[in-house]
Parts: sequence; structure tokens; C-alpha cells
Amino acid sequence: MCGIVGYVGNKFVDSVLLVGLERLEYRGYDSSGIATINTGELSVCKKKGKLKMLNDCLKETGLGGNIGIGHTRWATHGEPSEKNAHPHTDCGKHLAVVHNGIIENYQQLKERLIAKGHIFESETDTEVIPHLIEEYLYEGLENAVRKAVGEIKGSYAICVISEKESDKIIVAKNGSPIIIGLGKNENFVASDITAVLPHTRDILILEDGEIAVITEKTTVIKNLQGAVVSRQAESVSMKAQDIDKGDYKFFMLKEICEQPALIEGIINSRLKNGLIVFDEMNLSNKYLARVKRIVIQACGTSWHAGMVAKYWLEKYAHIHTEVDVSSEFRYRNPIAEGDTLMLAISQSGETADTLAGIREGKSKFIKVLSIVNVMKSTIARESDGIIPIMAGPEIGVASTKAYTAQLVALYLFALYLGRLNYTIPEDEIKTKLDGLKAIPGLLNGFLKSQDTVIKCANEYFDRKNFIFLGRGINFPNALEGALKLKEISYIHSTGYPAGEFKHGPIALINETTPVVCIAPKDELYPKMVSNIQEVGARKGRIISVATEGDDRIAGISSNVIFVPECQEDISPMVTVLPLQLLAYHIAVKLGYDVDKPRNLAKSVTVE
Ligand code: F6R
Repeated sequence: MCGIVGYVGNKFVDSVLLVGLERLEYRGYDSSGIATINTGELSVCKKKGKLKMLNDCLKETGLGGNIGIGHTRWATHGEPSEKNAHPHTDCGKHLAVVHNGIIENYQQLKERLIAKGHIFESETDTEVIPHLIEEYLYEGLENAVRKAVGEIKGSYAICVISEKESDKIIVAKNGSPIIIGLGKNENFVASDITAVLPHTRDILILEDGEIAVITEKTTVIKNLQGAVVSRQAESVSMKAQDIDKGDYKFFMLKEICEQPALIEGIINSRLKNGLIVFDEMNLSNKYLARVKRIVIQACGTSWHAGMVAKYWLEKYAHIHTEVDVSSEFRYRNPIAEGDTLMLAISQSGETADTLAGIREGKSKFIKVLSIVNVMKSTIARESDGIIPIMAGPEIGVASTKAYTAQLVALYLFALYLGRLNYTIPEDEIKTKLDGLKAIPGLLNGFLKSQDTVIKCANEYFDRKNFIFLGRGINFPNALEGALKLKEISYIHSTGYPAGEFKHGPIALINETTPVVCIAPKDELYPKMVSNIQEVGARKGRIISVATEGDDRIAGISSNVIFVPECQEDISPMVTVLPLQLLAYHIAVKLGYDVDKPRNLAKSVTVE
């Protein structure tokens, strides 16, 4: 959350910062700002609202110069407003700071600084940083930053510029991600790689407890004691066009439509001569064969993927599997047994709660295998092994393609363990892989005609509440369908296991509340039919997601969205598609900015 950028070089700094912020806007978009130094003088421009507001303002009165820092905010302390937007400055307005993270002891620091005469203008935790640096500026900017961060408790990635040393950006990190992009006679800083891609693919990743001094020609990384740290630059393979919206109105729709090709690509790279391979996994078969218990921890959509994976891991690999949301897992003192493997699932690889869950597990000597999308992320780097989901950059804040990519990766991993444990026969694995290979074609077919989904969106977009029901392996999709809808359309929606519905929530049924029932032909189909009838008997509006040609479901539903038939264990990869599209079309019909829903940010790097 919050995106920060920095630039020093010969290009027009306003534009470089704006382009970077545009690519980071998914991290927060309630306000934004930049600060630059032009002919020795610091200037700041900040605006409430989306980046467009800042852009419009800078079009009229650009700041200019060759060095600057920028920020796009997701509010934690203090409401979204111009005064709370970053960059923040010291009393003399000679230095400016952008920050991503949370300063936990800001209240004590603020009181101390106010007592010393510092004047604060915002309600943010961040503003203590420029004032603290101001206190030590007599020692030079680098040392002043080092002393200031030495007093801060909490998480931060910060960029600092000062009129006094106007040729350099000082960067410091603890707990929040930051990378340095290396150019020729120019250098960049950003919260993630996407922001520097238009300029360079050579990057340095800053680690916790490090400070970097960046000028036009040099980048020096030091530890908090001031000793130089040598770090090899890495070259990233991602290209600028990977994060282009193309002809799509929203990234979310583009990403939904990318799913068939994506799944095909994952299958092709994971299957070699009929065998499942995980080249980057870094955990030996000898170790994996000893695993008796799996603990999955993740947040949001990634948690839902973990819930689906539990069915596969228990069924195919016969390994007892628990699934927890990371924010609960990290505080419940989980029991560690030597034969436990942790699966941490995260698209961004930066989610603070999931990272804390990993650290909790590792402190108890549990090995951690992460299922991540962003390869150079903190979670990827801190895990014992990784399975990249290979979904490519996901820009839409509501996760779609990362979910299906996670499902495919987890499905293959469950089959891999099943083969290792001799708990699933070879010919069954082959049949299952054939079923998986059919999925891209089925999804492509479904995407060609979205008429039934659009019809439902047009009919129900004005409802206040939605309920999503599913059973067995499709229960997590009920949660996922409800999450997608509430995130981008702001309609209250709740997901429930259909069999549990009668134990209370059925009281919510009335003639206006749509109940989306996920009912593919699987072993729980007869039970699901009964649950749908229970809703119908109470005059609920039933939208069923059912297998192509299922007249029985059609007969008891108000609307049916047919999905193509597939092997029942992998039906969540198919049934999620209409749920993603339903949320999308409803949000578009309501006129919302689908890619940037209110109050949300793509990567949640605070607790
Ligand atoms: C939902 C969504 C969030 C994320 C959650 C975890 O559409 O995007 O619920 O799934 O914040 O994020 P990652 O997977 O990056 O750890």
C-alpha cells in the first residue's frame, strides 16, 4: 500500500515521477504528490483524489528540476486530504520525505518534537520523519536519515531529498518493499519494479536495515552502521508492454480474459515428458515425502485458493491440511511439528500479514513453500522454496487471473505430492492432467458468449444484498464470488457453505435478494439441488451457475449461467469465471472505476 518513486537524472522530473506513480496507483489512490528540487529550491505539489488531479495541476504549474520524489497514498493515519498527502516536509520546508509503511511510535516522537518547537501540519505518522531528520541535519543528510530511522519503530520504505544536498536521494527500508532502478546517468527508486520498467530493467533490491545514497551516476548501499554493502544488480525479464491495458476498458476485464492462455502457459511449463516439474521449488523430494501436515496461510482471494487446495492435498496426497487467514494465523501461536510444511499463498508477495505468518512459521523451524506471483518479492525471498504461479503482472485491484493461476499451481502440486506419496495411481494422474489441459479451451468457449452473465448484471445490479452459496470444492468460490462483488460494486454480499445456510442465514432470503448458487454436476450435486429448493421455497431469486444442459437446475432457478462440463475436482477453475464477470459487469453498470475500487489497494503491506 502506498506507492513511492524517486528520480535523479537529466529527464524532466515531473513526467518521470508521474509515469512511475501511474504504474503504482494500484497501491493506493486517495491522494498523491511530488516534491522536486529546482535550482536549489524545494517545491511540493499535492492533491487529494486520483492521480489525474495531480497530473492536471502539474500541467498548469510544473515543478521541474532533475531530482524528485513522489507518492500515491492509501490512508492509514489521517483521512485522505491534501494536507495528509505525501511528500511531507520539515519546519523549514527544505527537505521532503515520502513513506510507505506505518510508524508505530509516531505519537511519542511527535510529542517530543512538538516540545522542541517543531510544527506539524498533518495527522499522519509519516510527518515525524522529516522533523526527526531536520533535528540531525547538521550531521549531513545521510547520517541524519540514519539517526532518524534508528529512532523509528515500525515498517517503512522512505525516500528523502534535501535542498542542502540536492544531488542525492536517500532511501531507507525496514519491512516495506523498495527497489532501485539503474540507468545511464540517471537512477530511479520505486515501491515495485513496474514503475521503473519504462526506463530500465536493471534493478537492485534494498533489504531491511539498509540505506542507499543515490545520485545521477552512483548508488551506494550501506547498513545502519554505515558499512558499505555490495549488491549485484539483477535484470528483470518483465517488459513495459506486460502492463498495458491494450484495447480493454479495464485491466480487470483484460485479466479475466487472459486466463485461458495463462493456464495453458502454466501447464506447458510445468509438464515435461508427462511429469510435473517445479524447477524453482528448492525443496527435495526426500523432504516432501516426510511431510505429514500442511498449514496454508494467506489473505483474501489467495486464502480462497488455499481453501480449494485443501481438498486436493487431502484427497490426492493424503496429507492433513489446515487453512488459515494470515492475520489470525500469525497471532495464534500455531503448533509446530517437524513434519509440517507451510504453504504461503500471495499474488503480490508483499502482504504484511502473510509475511508475518511466514516469519512465525520459520521461527518454529517450519519450512515454507510460497506460491507467489511476484518473483522478487519479499515473501518469495524469505521462503525456503517457491512455486511461481506465472500469472504475469496483475494490475486490477480485484484479483482474478492470479486466483486461477494459484489454483492450477496448487492442483499440480497436490498431484506431485500424490505421486511422491504413492497415494494416487499413475493412470489417474494422467487422466487428471488431461482434464486440466482441457480447461483453457473450455474457458475460451465461455468467454466468447457472456450474454447470460450480462443479462443477470442488468437485472440485479440495483440490489442491496447478494448471497453466494456453494458446497464442497465450490464453497471457496462462493466466498470468492461474494468478495469480488463487494470489492468493486460496493454491494453487500456474503458467501456461505450451502449446507450451513439453513442454520441461520436462510432468514435473509426474500423476494429481492439474489442468491447465486454454484451447482456444477459433482458428487454433492443432489445436496446442492436440495439447498437451491430450500431457497426457492422461500421465494428467493436464484441465479444458478450450472453445468451446460442441466435442465433440472434451470427448472428451479430464476436465471441460469451455464458453464462447460469439466472434471469435477477442477470445476472451481471454471465456475469462478462467471462470478468474476458478474461482479465486473455489475460494477461497470453502476459506473464504478473497476480497477481502483474505493478504500482498497492492491498490495496490503500494513497490518
Ligand atoms: C481480492 C484481493 C485481495 C488479495 C489479498 C491478498 O480481490 O485482491 O483480497 O487477495 O489482499 O493479497 P496477496 O495475494 O497479494 O497476498
